[in-house]
Amino acid sequence: MAKKITVNVNGVSFTEEVEERMLLVHFLRDRLELTGTHVGCDTSSCGACTIHLDGMAVKSCTTLAVQADGRSVTTIEGMADGDTLHPLQEGFKECHGLQCGFCTPGMIMTAADLLNDNPDPSEHEIREALEGNFCRCTGYHNIVKSVEYAADKINGKVPA
Ligand code: FES
Ligand code: FES
Repeated sequence: MAKKITVNVNGVSFTEEVEERMLLVHFLRDRLELTGTHVGCDTSSCGACTIHLDGMAVKSCTTLAVQADGRSVTTIEGMADGDTLHPLQEGFKECHGLQCGFCTPGMIMTAADLLNDNPDPSEHEIREALEGNFCRCTGYHNIVKSVEYAADKINGKVPA
């Protein structure tokens, strides 16, 4: 059955008719053409599809589009401020936190949720927060460094 939903995505309101079974990730990618959110598995385990729903990181492959009705979604496309990269995006660039880049949007959205709750996390806390995100290129060391860079930047310290 189809249902009309209104979702604010990256600050823009969209009203669309969707099948009740449509996944949020398909709504974002196929309807809104926001293809920065990736699908890397069909078992809810890789985290490539992570977005923010009302400011909290969720896996959009296990969220229905209708669950986002009346709520706010942020995707990787909404993280930069014009031409200014988000500190996490800058961190991944500066610290070589990506190789193929497939996992990167999900890593950044999960890390952003962590830094919102805990702006100065330890290395252990970063690793723990990212345990639901897989990097098939296995660049975990530099991913952690990238998040540390962003935390330093957000806290007004000169990033290491
Ligand atoms: Fe959502 Fe893998 S695509 S967890
Ligand atoms: Fe390739 Fe993470 S950079 S999967």
